[in-house]
Amino acid sequence: MTWDQWLAERAGLRHERGVDRIDPVLRDDSMIDLASNDYLGLARDARVVEAAVAATERYGAGAGASRLVTGTLPVHRELESALCELTEWPAALAFSSGYTANLGAVTALTGRGAHILLDAHAHASLHDAARMSRSPYDVFAHNDPADLDARLRRLDGARVLVAVESIYSVLGDAAPLAELHAVCRRHDALLLVDEAHGIGVAGDGGGRVRALGLAGATDLVVTVTLSKSLGAQGGAVLSGRPMRDHLVNSARSFIFDTGLAPAAAGAATEAARIIATRPALAEAVHVRAAVIAEQCGITSAAGAVQSVPMPGPLEAVAAREELRSAGVLVGCFRPPSVPDGVSRLRITARADLPLDVVGSAAARVRAVSARTERVMT
Ligand SMILES: Cc1ncc(COP(=O)(O)O)c(C=O)c1O
Repeated sequence: MTWDQWLAERAGLRHERGVDRIDPVLRDDSMIDLASNDYLGLARDARVVEAAVAATERYGAGAGASRLVTGTLPVHRELESALCELTEWPAALAFSSGYTANLGAVTALTGRGAHILLDAHAHASLHDAARMSRSPYDVFAHNDPADLDARLRRLDGARVLVAVESIYSVLGDAAPLAELHAVCRRHDALLLVDEAHGIGVAGDGGGRVRALGLAGATDLVVTVTLSKSLGAQGGAVLSGRPMRDHLVNSARSFIFDTGLAPAAAGAATEAARIIATRPALAEAVHVRAAVIAEQCGITSAAGAVQSVPMPGPLEAVAAREELRSAGVLVGCFRPPSVPDGVSRLRITARADLPLDVVGSAAARVRAVSARTERVMT
């Protein structure tokens, strides 16, 4: 089979299963955007944009080298301090994305002699990290501390890293973090919490780990992305100092990657400062998320992300297109991007959208999804 034939075969299979993906340009200010992850509207906040411009003018368009060579700039230090202040962790290490932060943290903390347990709904980057680590890894039942406990008991004596999300990226439900942490502590396991969808939104913006009083625990480490609530790009690991030192020396996606671009670092620093001083932003997300939940009959909303299950991938695409024609952008998540195999419309709450606009857009989502359900039954 030639490469062309192989590509045509793969495209045919995708089409048959209704899981074709494209990368359309959808940015259109006339649309109501309930699809993006810019939960606080900071990506276009004038202060954040200005900080990106100022950092670019001061340091250039790129960091120019790995952080360990000449790529560490004052703006990276400022970013790391601002993240520590926001989340109440003693140390932070910035990466070029949330994806590489997860790769770096998981692989640097595991390897030979270690085991990894992932929540069944954990993000693809955590699965990829587990694969790259060369440690044996397994999943435990989603949000189930008892299943985690049973699995850790079987691994007693081993060095185990447990990885979960604080608020799940597709279904939008929250992890029982205090219970999971207590189970990990009983078994001397290290708990990694991916706060991609918690930072900026949970608690008063400092994330769920801080809200639960767990920031600074020595058997816990947090990863974040700077690309959602912080409106920029990049990622970070929040930890104690010894853990940061270890990552600087061992995290390959930190060592062998060019430092975060100055524009992204400057923007995220400003965004973190804004979030730290304006808890009303997180509150505005909660209020809008409650409106969406009520309109769409969702009970598990913990942050900005919510989802409505659809009968299948084709129905999900049709519903997204119908909503798009009506001026409402929602996410359409299909296998393999859904942890439970169920295609969904993914709806996000945004602090910068007026309440009545969110309410009427959510009512449209409800009407379209209800009609799809009726057609299918
Ligand atoms: C839970 C979770 N972790 C990590 C990432 C990766 O973050 P980034 O987009 O900054 O690479 C995402 C983004 O989709 C995410 O949802």
